[in-house]
Amino acid sequence: MSSSSDPTPQPAPIGFAPPFIDEATIAAVERVLRSGWITTGPETAAFEQDLARYTGADRVICGGSWTGLAGVILDWFGVGPGDEVILPAYTYCATANIVLHRGATPVLVDLPAKAGEDGFNITWAQIEPLLTAQTKVIMPVDIGGWPVPCAAWKTNLARWVASHGFTCDHPVQAKLGRPLLLSDAAHSIGATTEGAPIGKQADITVFSFHAVKNLTTAEGGAAALSLPASFDAEAVYRTLRSHCLHGQSKDAAAKFNAAGNAAWRYDVTHPGFKCNMTDIQAAMGRVALERYPEDLLHRRALADRYDAGLAALQEIQRPQRQDQGRRSADHLYIIRLPRVWQPHRDALMEALGAQGIATNVHFPPLPLLTAYAERGHNIGDVPHAVAAFDAAISLPIHRQMETADVDRVIAALHAAIKGLNLPSSS
Ligand SMILES: Cc1ncc(COP(=O)(O)O)c(C=O)c1O
Repeated sequence: MSSSSDPTPQPAPIGFAPPFIDEATIAAVERVLRSGWITTGPETAAFEQDLARYTGADRVICGGSWTGLAGVILDWFGVGPGDEVILPAYTYCATANIVLHRGATPVLVDLPAKAGEDGFNITWAQIEPLLTAQTKVIMPVDIGGWPVPCAAWKTNLARWVASHGFTCDHPVQAKLGRPLLLSDAAHSIGATTEGAPIGKQADITVFSFHAVKNLTTAEGGAAALSLPASFDAEAVYRTLRSHCLHGQSKDAAAKFNAAGNAAWRYDVTHPGFKCNMTDIQAAMGRVALERYPEDLLHRRALADRYDAGLAALQEIQRPQRQDQGRRSADHLYIIRLPRVWQPHRDALMEALGAQGIATNVHFPPLPLLTAYAERGHNIGDVPHAVAAFDAAISLPIHRQMETADVDRVIAALHAAIKGLNLPSSS
């Protein structure tokens, strides 16, 4: 029985991006744990098939993380010292770290001068002047789930190469005859361009299934292969798979399952990495993928609610989520604050935190990070990325929220703005 002295019950905290682990996920993991086979095996193979169906890609390979997979793709493409990889300054460090790991040079692109010209993404007009004879890979990032129009970029790239040529010293590069368009789709599985899910527009599209992502396997990733017809997708798959497993000619399942006395024998054709996916992860992923269309609708409903609720706060710029040809995967809901509010960004986030609402900031541009500043990358070269970073707050959006939670976030934001005396038209 309650009494008048009971403290007012506090609403449950709203976390930033907690994983959604339903009973079906737990059952699938238990099934694999009891099966006697927990590393890469039949479950991973089935997840790869499921993902190929979902994305429409020719073939999908799963791995231990986006970072591991995208790294071995750079190796397969022969990226090394002297090569340049064009990528945004406004991204997570993984996008550029994998380039440094290969001794190649990340060429960082600022955001467009017009804030929000294409969400938080870079545009083709910014890429073209940066293309050189050293450019081996272009790696755009679908920030927050907003997809880069990769089909159009591929056409532009082919046109550029037709008039400028392509210098290469590696057989895979020679076969492609142009820089590789490698999409960092860590945020954007399920985003669509021209009505089709991403995965077949870029040459290779790499997804992350890290714990905070829309679709998670705790850690993990997948690469959707959609190379020109001159490439045998199955052969590329086998090569990448071997790159993910020390360069071994056979994986553990092949050694274990193959009949005959010589099944254990294997070769190591090159010193590959170790970034394969386990069947435990794949079991999580398969359940999440089956549920994913429903999850995306849920995210969309939350983001629509944010859009409607924030419309009254005219100072705040809402994220780009849809245009005639594209639809976001609504991974992040990043708002931009007006300049006069920016010195109070942390205070705003703290005020929301005091109401049990977790927020985040995506992303400090790479030159703001010591590792990149020390390598000569200058924040003065990326003023628009820095401006976007200064303005950004990512509001919570995830499967366990309901629209009433979005209303709570918006109410808390209004209260915080008032509490901090920020100038507002509402
Ligand atoms: C834009 C971007 N690229 C790459 C990654 C790396 O993904 P993973 O953690 O699966 O290696 C992340 C992870 O957060 C990311 O946000």
